[in-house]
Order: sequence, then C-alpha cells, then structure tokens
Amino acid sequence: MALRVLTMANTPNTPAEATRIAPADGGEETHPGESRRSRLCDFMAAEHARLDALLVSAAAGSGADRVTAYQDFRKGLLRHIGIEEKILFPAAQHRRNGEPLLPAGRLKVDHGALAALVMLPPSASTFRALQAVLNAHNPLEDAPGGVYDQCESLAQEQVDELLDRCVKAAEVPVSPWVENPKVLAAAKRVLARAGYDPAVLDE
Ligand SMILES: [Fe+2]
Ligand SMILES: [Fe+2]
Repeated sequence: MALRVLTMANTPNTPAEATRIAPADGGEETHPGESRRSRLCDFMAAEHARLDALLVSAAAGSGADRVTAYQDFRKGLLRHIGIEEKILFPAAQHRRNGEPLLPAGRLKVDHGALAALVMLPPSASTFRALQAVLNAHNPLEDAPGGVYDQCESLAQEQVDELLDRCVKAAEVPVSPWVENPKVLAAAKRVLARAGYDPAVLDE
C-alpha cells in the first residue's frame, strides 16, 4: 500500500495525530509499527531531496546566494552522514549480531569522498563531483529494499526510538573550505580510491 505522511494541508490537532500515517489511497491506516517504519525511510529520503535541492541551488546561484546554499548543503550533508554512521548503521549492525549491512563498506567509502569534496570551494567542478557521488550513493540507501528499508526492518519495535534519535541529531562542526591545490589533489585521490573519475574535478 502506498503511504503518505500527513501534511500541513491537513494539519493534525494532537501529537498523536501528528505521528499517524494515512494511506494515500484513502484506505485503512497501517498498524503503528508499520507507519513508524515508513516514517524513518521517509525522513531520510526527504533529507536526500533537501540536500539535492541545496546543491542545485548552489550550482545555479551566484555571489552570496551561492555561498549560503553551499554552506547549508555542507552542514546538512555532514550531519546526514553522521546520522547514518553514528546512529543507523551501528543500530543495524547490532541487530545483525555485529555483522555490518552488506553495502556499509561501500557507503563509508562514498561518505569519505563526500567529506573530502565539501572541503573544496564552491565551483562548478565541486558541484559536479558532489552530484556524481550522490547520484551513485543515494539510491543504495533510499531505493526500495535499500539500506534505509533494512535499517527499519531490523529496528523492529525500537524504530520509534531510532527515528527520534535521527530527528534530534545535533549539527556537526564544519571546517571552512580551502582554496589550495593540495586539498584539490587530495580530493582527487579520495575520489579515485572510491572508484570515481577524478577528472570530474577538472575545471
Ligand atoms: Fe550515505
Ligand atoms: Fe543518505
């Protein structure tokens, strides 16, 4: 059954209603556990959409608008990666008796590449490289049956607590970007090690 989260258009009156998920087809509501599992995936996928929009906005903007969008993207992306690596992946690994999720290694390599790229100044090549990594990375997480679905399923009755921890995750410190050929060269090496074409960073 397709689900949708209640939106401002039909704003709930109580906190209990605020956590309710209504079926998009107008049918019966799902069981509470199911709706919370869906909300965890929805929350993380919405973060991807928000970050994509900020990156597009930074790439299309100029001057102060570009800088503001890029700063918001950098802060949001590093917090998002922190949620995955400090909350979601460890919780899933714990539920799997210490065994990491299958693509966790791949995802961590991508996270390292993304962290290296956001140390670069806002430029067309930086935005192009970030988009290339995110285009390959995000579907591994938010596609049906992907990592977020697996995290939800594994969390079982603790999915409420898991979602709350994700929602409340603190901002992480973000260093200023650096205009330096050595930093660019390091980002290219990290990209290549992660399996991406470092030439994407060429102007
Ligand atoms: Fe990720
Ligand atoms: Fe993600």
